[in-house]
Amino acid sequence: MEKLIIQGGTPLEGRIRVSSAKNAVLPIIAATLLASTPSTLLEIPDLEDVHTICDVIASLGVKVTKDGDNITFDASTISAVEAPYDLVRRMRASFLVMGPLLARKGEARIALPGGCAIGSRPIDLHLKAFEALGATITMGEDFVEAKAPEGLKGNLIYLDFPSVGATENVIMAATFAEGKTIIENAAEEPEIVDLATFLNSMGANIRGAGTDVIRIEGVKELKGAVHTVIPDRIEAGTYLIAAAMAGGNVYVENALSEHLKPVVAKLKEAGVTVEEDIDGIRVISDGNLKATDIKTLPYPGFPTDMQAQFMAMTTIAKGKSTVMETVFENRFMHVGELQKMGASIEVDDRKAFVTGVDQLVGAEVEATDLRCGAALVCAGLAAKGVTKVGQLTHIDRGYDNLVTKLKGIGANIVRVDE
Ligand code: EPZ
Repeated sequence: MEKLIIQGGTPLEGRIRVSSAKNAVLPIIAATLLASTPSTLLEIPDLEDVHTICDVIASLGVKVTKDGDNITFDASTISAVEAPYDLVRRMRASFLVMGPLLARKGEARIALPGGCAIGSRPIDLHLKAFEALGATITMGEDFVEAKAPEGLKGNLIYLDFPSVGATENVIMAATFAEGKTIIENAAEEPEIVDLATFLNSMGANIRGAGTDVIRIEGVKELKGAVHTVIPDRIEAGTYLIAAAMAGGNVYVENALSEHLKPVVAKLKEAGVTVEEDIDGIRVISDGNLKATDIKTLPYPGFPTDMQAQFMAMTTIAKGKSTVMETVFENRFMHVGELQKMGASIEVDDRKAFVTGVDQLVGAEVEATDLRCGAALVCAGLAAKGVTKVGQLTHIDRGYDNLVTKLKGIGANIVRVDE
């Protein structure tokens, strides 16, 4: 089994570059299903989740051609409307093909995306919205089918929760729907803005992305487009936390500070020097951190995908910090692993109470999910001694070239096959 071996205690110095956003690339690749001519996406990161979504749409008949970091998707003919279980099981975001398939082919059959370590991950809001657009939903044992043989009709849709995936699926489903669709209480994440930008460049008519009310006017057809995806704000935030914990002076290139306002604000509250400019964000830290409370919320609140990494930081901050997780029901799997490194954390339902310790101690730990893995890498970089991180498949889903990038700022980290 492959592991990361991290020798902690070295301050981090230098420049580290952020790749394109995983959570924008995935819906945008699903959206290429809507175009009757080829689309090309530039600078696509080499992530397991990207490979999976490419396998899913290739299984639907899309010609996927890679040219370095650029990938061309030719969806001129869609030969299937079913996403196979073994692919959907690998990544629940595969469910994002349901909206475009329903729009383009009038039917879709998707294996039920399982839950995962952080929660049950239901899809009720997606299905309720598809029905509001006129689709008939049939629930099977382990699959869900949506049909709209006469096409979809625009409607007013209120999302009980500003679900990112549901907002994206509905936007894609509504692109060809007759008339106007309005999504109220829509998610406002930057990844949704990027999806709408891509779809509008293909000929869609979407307004309001990035706010809680999104309007979609149905059009007849979409043509392929060329698109560069926004930078990954969570990858960027992870490197900011790593530098804050290990200490040093690190410039995170290609990070958009307007997408990281709550993370930057909380880093400053913790006593970290943060300088933002048009090309990126610099962190200067002596490793002395102040206790800081966070509460995760839908965008523009503090991102749930940064909760584990920030909690890792509070474990060595002076004083008591409270971490509240309001988005997912079980996103504290990293607590047990951090405790193996000497962290002092008490959990009560969705609240974690962290008492800072002088220093974490290197240990053998396991990534239970993607962001837990990221948090453990940050912790290992600051800990005394050697940390071994296992279950790297989780980390490979969301961080491309992590070891190379961290070595580039002086981290003592290697990937070995034990
Ligand atoms: C997206 O997941 C991201 N994934 C997640 O990132 C991120 O944590 C999440 O949004 C929240 O920001 C991708 O974009 C591929 P949601 P998604 O639907 O769309 C409940 C990472 O680490 N809900 O906004 O699945 C759900 O149970 C991953 O990169 C329903 O109840 O998130 C959860 O509690 C992890 N019914 C909450 O909403 C539904 O039909 C937020 O889920 C849908 C969601």
